[in-house]
Amino acid sequence: MEDMNLLESEIMAQIAGASDLKHLDDVRVAVLGKKGVLTEKMKTLGQMEEHLRIETAKKLNTLKNKIEEAFGAKKSALEDAALNTRLQEEKIDVTLPVRPEVQGRIHPVSKIFEEVFAIFGALGFEVAEGPDIEDQFHNFNALNMPLNHPARQMQDTFYIASKQSEPFDMESAYVARTHTSGIQIRTMENKKPPIRIIAPGRTYRSDMDATHTPMFHQVEGLVVDKTTTFAELKGCLSDFVKAFFELDNIPVRYRPSYFPFTEPSAEMDIGCLKTKTELKIGAGDDWLEILGCGMVHPNVLRAGGIDPDEYQGFAFGVGIDRLAMLKYGIPDLRTFFESDLRWLKHYGFAPLDFSSLTGGLNGNGGSLR
Ligand code: PHE
Repeated sequence: MEDMNLLESEIMAQIAGASDLKHLDDVRVAVLGKKGVLTEKMKTLGQMEEHLRIETAKKLNTLKNKIEEAFGAKKSALEDAALNTRLQEEKIDVTLPVRPEVQGRIHPVSKIFEEVFAIFGALGFEVAEGPDIEDQFHNFNALNMPLNHPARQMQDTFYIASKQSEPFDMESAYVARTHTSGIQIRTMENKKPPIRIIAPGRTYRSDMDATHTPMFHQVEGLVVDKTTTFAELKGCLSDFVKAFFELDNIPVRYRPSYFPFTEPSAEMDIGCLKTKTELKIGAGDDWLEILGCGMVHPNVLRAGGIDPDEYQGFAFGVGIDRLAMLKYGIPDLRTFFESDLRWLKHYGFAPLDFSSLTGGLNGNGGSLR
């Protein structure tokens, strides 16, 4: 009996003294394992006289239960402590200010996309997307540009063989999309009117100088409904440029133009003042071309599975890089894609300056620039 009490207090002291989960497990093995003290004690039961054996077995079992309970309690206490230490060590104070020396910058192109989303989002447009590597049906044919249509020469297209193993076949080749207009078709294929979408994306043409790079960015717009008119197109795009350049009044004009997928087609210019050293938007006698637009050609509606006798629509395509150059006074487009950190530091935006119509398109006025 004495012996048993001593054993109990010794084991309990060892459990209480375990400093971590590994230590506790060592103690458990030393007590309850195959060769543990308690296990060894159990083994002696066999040699005992019957009435002593029954009594000792009872006591040993009670002791074993107590010890197991103590192990369980200690184990969860140690687990809690381990979790608390981890929480303490891995604590991140999200209210701490960002260290400016490690802060990244938002590229002007991303910023302009955000601004355009904020404006058209407020006008009730949804965002649609399409693939960069496009088939010719969506990039050309469905847009009223069948193979050998002269308008295909308007764009310096990168073609991609559909099967690498075979000789190049012009008809089945894919293209690096030359514009985002293919998303007009993809949208019409998947959605019934009324349609009101903008489609942002990278676009590709074989061209390179101060205002052209082989990869650039566009945002497409498409509205299709029963009564959509050219007047709505004008209202929508005038509202867009006013919001975008943050000017209450901005002269706009629409010059007749040609795109195979719109009829009539137009190019939209905004009023500006050009001097030798400065370009001022919104005032003066000069004009600056800003986007292409028009009423969706009936053939395009048909290709998208929409009946042109019932529906009509307008579409537009804006060059995002050009907007960035104009709005933020960046002279050479090629510098956009050189990944020069000094350039990004100069022209980039603080990551937390979200664009919104109410809070300002440049967040806090581009506060960290
Ligand atoms: N896709 C034309 C371009 O890249 C722009 C455009 C889009 C014109 C939609 C009219 C309507 O030049």
